[in-house]
Amino acid sequence: MNIAVFASHGGSDLQAIIDGCNNHAIDAKVVVVISNNSDSMALQRAAKENIPNYHLSSRQYDSEELLAKKILQVLDEYSVDMIFLAGYMRMLHTSILEKYNNRVFNIHPALLPKYGGKGMYGMNVHNAVIAAKEKETGVTIHRVNAEYDSGEIVAQTVMKVNEDDTPETLAARVLEREHEFLVEVISDIIAGKIAL
Ligand code: GRF
Repeated sequence: MNIAVFASHGGSDLQAIIDGCNNHAIDAKVVVVISNNSDSMALQRAAKENIPNYHLSSRQYDSEELLAKKILQVLDEYSVDMIFLAGYMRMLHTSILEKYNNRVFNIHPALLPKYGGKGMYGMNVHNAVIAAKEKETGVTIHRVNAEYDSGEIVAQTVMKVNEDDTPETLAARVLEREHEFLVEVISDIIAGKIAL
């Protein structure tokens, strides 16, 4: 199974997937990493692992269609079977979603459908969870469709929000859990427990 990971910033989720593949917890390979952000740590992490990596942004192309065409060409070149969005801050073009129908997944740091949708990313999510005095939060992995955070949920893990949690302590704990959960869920996808 050849995985493409798309990421915009730190890439710690990407690293968890790469590590999972390297230590055979995941029977697959990250064959290419794509980022819309040239400064992304994700690109640096990929380079360090000798994984082909591409900075592909709408700024480099005259239209979203042309960018999507280039992305599709790269995905094809590396015979990608599955796409994982791990902190990718852009919407994927419908031509990509159509071609990889059911094979595009995203990870979100909350229990969707709560705390999802446009603008609900990064610290905004954890700020909102703390402000609402939620007793539980968690991590969701879902298929990607043309609307933010609304595709079919394939896996969720619930976590307790502690009384003394701040958005920062919560964010750190959720991210740590993401790293384990990604490995568990991608393994389940590969084992066919979650259909492609
Ligand atoms: C994670 O919290 C993930 O849920 C969200 O973006 C963040 C990515 O973190 N979609 P990192 O860049 O992998 O460290």
